Amino acid sequence: MYLGLDLGTSGLRGILVDDTGHVVGDAEVSISTSTPKPSWSEQDPLDWTNACEEVVGKLRVGNRQAFSKLRGIGLSGHMHGATLLDPDGEILRPCILWNDTRSADEARTLDQTPEMRAISGNIVFPGFTAPKLEWLRANEPDVFSKVGKVLLPKDYLRFWLTGEYVSDMSDSAGTSWLDVDTRQWSEKALAIGHMRTEQMPSLVEGSDRGGELKVRLRQDWGLSNPVVVAGGAGDNAAAACGIGSINDGTGFVSLGTSGVLLVAREAYAPDPETAVHCFCHAVPDRWIQMGVMLSATNSMNWLSRNLGEPVERLAASMPGKLNGPSAITFLPYLSGERTPHNNSHIRGAFLGVDISSEPAELTQSVMEGVSFGMRDCLEALKSTGTQPNSLMAVGGGARSQFWLETLATVLQVPLEMPKGSEFGAALGAARLAICAVNGAEPAQVMTPPEIRERIEPRGDLIDAYENEYRRYRQFYQALAPLAL
Ligand code: XUL
Repeated sequence: MYLGLDLGTSGLRGILVDDTGHVVGDAEVSISTSTPKPSWSEQDPLDWTNACEEVVGKLRVGNRQAFSKLRGIGLSGHMHGATLLDPDGEILRPCILWNDTRSADEARTLDQTPEMRAISGNIVFPGFTAPKLEWLRANEPDVFSKVGKVLLPKDYLRFWLTGEYVSDMSDSAGTSWLDVDTRQWSEKALAIGHMRTEQMPSLVEGSDRGGELKVRLRQDWGLSNPVVVAGGAGDNAAAACGIGSINDGTGFVSLGTSGVLLVAREAYAPDPETAVHCFCHAVPDRWIQMGVMLSATNSMNWLSRNLGEPVERLAASMPGKLNGPSAITFLPYLSGERTPHNNSHIRGAFLGVDISSEPAELTQSVMEGVSFGMRDCLEALKSTGTQPNSLMAVGGGARSQFWLETLATVLQVPLEMPKGSEFGAALGAARLAICAVNGAEPAQVMTPPEIRERIEPRGDLIDAYENEYRRYRQFYQALAPLAL
């Protein structure tokens, strides 16, 4: 048996998987985020370990027999967070998360240092880890001077599980301190960010061993055999493992809190100018190219909050099938944007709102605006030479057939809907554990799920959405100079 743990921004999900990769049990516990100041986003690492105890407790109750045969644990987690520990492994302050943009100025300064893009293969985005440490150096020098180790969120969970400081390449690629080509810490990038190699965890591939479960936890959890903890992955690389995307040109479009369009690559092909993220994959000799939008389903959550209507009801108010773009254009930049604009100042907008506009029309325009943002990501990926052969649709937003048909038509790419409900980052993490325990070839384990349905672009409406996409691009160009 294998345990896949996915530390998401809103909760920790655990699944128990047998040797064939079949899911035999699952459990989830929510985790809260605090926003002490505008643009800040923090979590208490102790909430992660408490959630882990709770998830394991639930899994044991529901699957006592299966859980007692646990041989491996795989970890996935939200990327870029800075979990700061003193030299004794004590937590120094709340973790600063991926969607915290307080270090926008520090990110700009680091990004303007030419070596940073050359080494890390990416823009130094405000959400990444290196600028967070620069912010700390300027604003909390006492804490900064005590930092013994910086861990990514899932790696803190590993430290609690194993007592070891280890990370994997896919997650570490989002720090800006990793040489993403050679898959090792860059002393140069660390020095530019006033950090040292000994403050970093050691590195393993996601599908390799990354530690062993502590004896005390094994006893508490009623396990008699040693349990391997795999290297694991950042959530996007883990999700790619979950849908079997490790070969060139395969990938997914995810309508989650953030929106991600990811394509696996067999070569390192960075192009920071495009604001495409180029990270290591969770398996050796592979990389991923991603376009990332900061507010995808979060745009729907925002609309739902302000209209006082649950998201499900808003989604249900959409027609059964597409009949052309709405007259309103929504720019989904509620927290700024990464791909393709790298603009932390831009904010969202509704354009073309009319005296007769109703909630349903606003809902449609939000789904369209997010789809146009994903099209921007696709165009950015294509400009780096990355061409998706097929895309699977995943994430909460993929539950809306109307949204998916809009997205397929805007992207002009068919979208595949996986069968069943278990193909996400937790499954990817469990699959990495299978590789780490058995030494199995990733290609044997990371197989694609069965396809339930293929959503084709609506040929009769492609031109109409193409025109609307052009207007969307022009609105950004017109508004960007006005954003402060
Ligand atoms: C990727 C990113 C998000 C987080 C949160 O660069 O910031 O997808 O990993 O899930």
